[in-house]
Amino acid sequence: QNHQEIHTRNVLQPHVLIFPIPFQGPVNCALKLAELLCLSGIHVTFLNTDHIHRPLLRHSHVLSRFNRYPNFKFETIPDGLEDENPVTGDRFEEVMAAIDAVTKPLFREMMISGSLSRRSEHPVTMMIPDEVYSFAVEVAVETSIPLFFFATLSPCCLWTSHFNLAALIEAGHVPVKENDLDELVKDVPGMEHILRKRDLAAFCRINDISDPEIQRTLKEAQTLPRAQGLILNTFDDLDSLVLPYIRKLCPNIYTIGPLHALHKAQLTPSESSETTLSNSVWKEDRTCLSWLDKHPPKTVVYISIGSLSTMTVDQMLEIWHGLVNSRKPFLWVRRPGSITGGYDESEVESQLLEVTKEMGCIVDWAPQEDVLAHCAVGGFLTHSGWNSTMESIVQGVPMICWPFYVDQQPNSRFVGEVWKLGIDMKDTCDRLIVEKAVRDIMDGKRDIYTQVTGYWANLAKESISDRGSSSISLARLIDDIRLMSL
Ligand code: UDX
Repeated sequence: QNHQEIHTRNVLQPHVLIFPIPFQGPVNCALKLAELLCLSGIHVTFLNTDHIHRPLLRHSHVLSRFNRYPNFKFETIPDGLEDENPVTGDRFEEVMAAIDAVTKPLFREMMISGSLSRRSEHPVTMMIPDEVYSFAVEVAVETSIPLFFFATLSPCCLWTSHFNLAALIEAGHVPVKENDLDELVKDVPGMEHILRKRDLAAFCRINDISDPEIQRTLKEAQTLPRAQGLILNTFDDLDSLVLPYIRKLCPNIYTIGPLHALHKAQLTPSESSETTLSNSVWKEDRTCLSWLDKHPPKTVVYISIGSLSTMTVDQMLEIWHGLVNSRKPFLWVRRPGSITGGYDESEVESQLLEVTKEMGCIVDWAPQEDVLAHCAVGGFLTHSGWNSTMESIVQGVPMICWPFYVDQQPNSRFVGEVWKLGIDMKDTCDRLIVEKAVRDIMDGKRDIYTQVTGYWANLAKESISDRGSSSISLARLIDDIRLMSL
């Protein structure tokens, strides 16, 4: 083969390794990115740790969707964890510790020995790990394989609580003290009038800065600028306040959000009309869609706290009373294991069901994107996970935010104060507050919310249109992957 032939073959065969953290939300997101790259003809290897791959394998719709791409394949890597479903956020550190101990050395070995590349027709030419995998940067240096990080959490969290964490610790603002929660954080550029200490990422409240979560975040902030690029699930208009600051540290960013909507827009009409485009690890109960069909437009409150957050029985009862007192019908996702406090789940559930069967529908796991798109849904009580926030923005559904951890604290502040898309009830869980919030977004202030949510939903849709900022960013990402694969 002469040089030109080799050159042409390599130009045509870029091969990306996508390596997500093993949790429902990030894997779902990373699979959407993978599919978009596959559609452009790029070869993709999707590296899952065993922990998440086992439950994913049971969902034939995910496998059959990806089976149709000859340029896509799954690979797995051990993580030493036996349990299959990570169901609560308090397991996050356990999973990260296992990845550090087991997966990290295996990943390095896999990449340096070239074993992953040898198992494929084409060598890996680009790595796209989740931004929490700081160790991938050293592997990229050792192998000379270019690397883009993919952040599935929000840019407002990255800016306020990752990139500024070292300075906040230095200035004595972190760890945040209980008495200072309402103090404004003046040291984060651009946030002087917006951010209170209670709005920093949840880990800023951990009392000990040697805690693994804080140390890992400090490392991430140092490592992100060392990658050749940073992929973000947002659109330029939405994060115009923080993106200029992030760009100063990471000049090459790709804003390809709302990723779920961009993904749907890029599929053919027949593909995008498939029953579900979600890559959900758990089985979705679609019967709730017919329950929604029975309700007039904008009358139902949807409640979900995502795949990892939890609530205590007392908190659940406060939310339940607030909902019942608001007299609005509700669709509530009660993920098994998400209510803590050692109570008899089936007994309490059956009592609540008895009282609420007239006005409520409770499911283990819902087809959330379809639920939010349903005209009956008029409000979303959410834990403010980043995917849920983006999905709600696209559908123009106002939010009542009750954040649990990580990026959800800044996300809910931005929803309430920056984008004005809803009400942030963080750090409170009281039936009166819930009732008032529901009445505000569904009745009293409905017109205002309809206007504002419509405004952002339009901008989101524009961003994924042919000439929209996120479509352009995706095209540039694909071009750059090809160029860097030379
Ligand atoms: C986690 C973090 O908690 C979150 O803060 C971070 O931004 C991303 O990773 P998770 O808690 O699961 O994710 O929340 P979120 O990001 O909102 O993702 C949940 C996903 O599950 C969404 O895509 C949502 O559509 C889906 N979902 C949720 C369902 O498909 N069905 C449900 O019943 C509930």
